Amino acid sequence: MAQNSARVAGRHFLQIPGPTPVPDRVLRAIDTPIIDHRGPEFARLARRCLEGIKSIFKTSNPVIIYTATGTGAWEAALVNTLSPGDRVLMVETGQFATLWKKMAENLGLKPEFIKTDWRVGADPRAIEAALREDKNKEIKAVCVLHNETSTGCASPIAEIRKAIDAAGHPALFFVDTISSLASTDYRHDEWGVDVSVGGAQKGLMLPPGMSFNAVSDKALAASKHAKLPKSFWSWEDMLNMNRVGFFPYTPATNMLQGLDVAIEMLHEEGLDNVFARHERFAEAVRRAVRAWGLETMCRDPKYYSSTVTAVMMPQGHDGDAFRSLALEHFNISYGASFGPYAGKYFRIGHLGDTNDGTILGALAITEMALSLAGVPHKKGGVQAALDYIAQAHAGPARAAAE
Ligand SMILES: Cc1ncc(COP(=O)(O)O)c(C=O)c1O
Repeated sequence: MAQNSARVAGRHFLQIPGPTPVPDRVLRAIDTPIIDHRGPEFARLARRCLEGIKSIFKTSNPVIIYTATGTGAWEAALVNTLSPGDRVLMVETGQFATLWKKMAENLGLKPEFIKTDWRVGADPRAIEAALREDKNKEIKAVCVLHNETSTGCASPIAEIRKAIDAAGHPALFFVDTISSLASTDYRHDEWGVDVSVGGAQKGLMLPPGMSFNAVSDKALAASKHAKLPKSFWSWEDMLNMNRVGFFPYTPATNMLQGLDVAIEMLHEEGLDNVFARHERFAEAVRRAVRAWGLETMCRDPKYYSSTVTAVMMPQGHDGDAFRSLALEHFNISYGASFGPYAGKYFRIGHLGDTNDGTILGALAITEMALSLAGVPHKKGGVQAALDYIAQAHAGPARAAAE
C-alpha cells in the first residue's frame, strides 16, 4: 500500500519473494466454515493434503505439516535428528543461511560455515573438500538452501548429493526449499535429501503460517537416537497421528483447506509448466536488468534463481530509498537487502501465482521508478523482457504447428 492515507486504486504489486499473492480460488477454499478436526471430514482432508504434498516434494516418504512458518520447520529438522554438540556443515549463502546457522548455535549444535561473498550459491566442490577433511566423520549434517531468497542465488542440490557421496561421508543432508518448492524443480527422493524444509507462503501460493519436513528413512532412523529436546516439533507424535488422518494438536484446519486446493491447482497447470513459467520470468527479469546496464547480485549464471532476482544499485544510490520511492509512487513492494549488502540492492520476486503481464508490469514500474529516482540506467529493459517473453511463447507455438 502507498504510505499516505488516501485510497490507492488497483491491485498492489507484491513483488517480494514471498509471501506471494494468494489465488482467489485458494482464498475461497480457506474462507470456509470450521470443521471438527477430530471428525471424518477432517480426516479425509488431512489424508488428501498429506498425500498431495508428497507429490510436490517428489517423495514417497511422509511429509510432516507444521502450523508454523518456515523457521519452525528449520528447527524441526535439527531437533528431530541431532544431539547436543553435533557438528553441522552449512554454507554462508546469505541472510537465511546465516539465520539457520544462528538457530543451530542456539540449539547447542556446532555449526561451521563454508564462506561465500553472498553472490553465489553453495559450491559442491567446497562441500566435498570440507567433508573429506572430516576424517573422523564428526559432521552429522550438511545444511544447504536450495534457493537463498536474500540474494537470488540457487544451489545445485543433485550435485551436492554427489559431492557428499564422493567424499564417502555419512552426514545427513538437509535442504531448505522454502523459496524454491513448487516453483523450481525439486526431487526429495531422487536427490537423496534426508530432510527437505518447505514453507507455504511462496510457490505453494498460501498465506504464511504452515511449513513442512519431508523426511527420508535415514532421517527417521536418526530421529530414534537424536537427543536434542523437542516436543511440539516431534516427528514421532505427528507421524503416529497422521497415520489415522489426524494431528496431535489442533491443526490449522483452514490452511489445510487452502493447501488441498493449491496442490490441485499446481497439478492442473502441471509441475513442469510451473517450473518453465518461473524460468521464463527469471530470464525476462535478468534481461531487463542487463539492458538497464545494472548488475544482478548473483554473479555466476550457474547459480541463477528462478524465483527472485536481486538488482545491485549503482554506487551512491540506496536500495531502501528506491523501494520507498517506488512504493509511494507506484504501489509496488520489492524485497529488501541484508547484512553486508544492506542498502546495496533491491529484490524482485517473480514466483507464485503470477503471469507474464504482471511481471512485465512490475518491470515497467521498475524502469519508471529508476528514472524517477535518478538512478543511472539505460532505457530498454522492458523491451528486452517483452521480446524475450514473446519469443519464449513463439517457440512452443511454432513447435506445435510443425
Ligand atoms: C530460504 C528461506 N528460509 C527460511 C525462511 C524463514 O521462513 P519464515 O519467515 O517463514 O519463518 C525464509 C523466509 O523468507 C526463506 O526465504
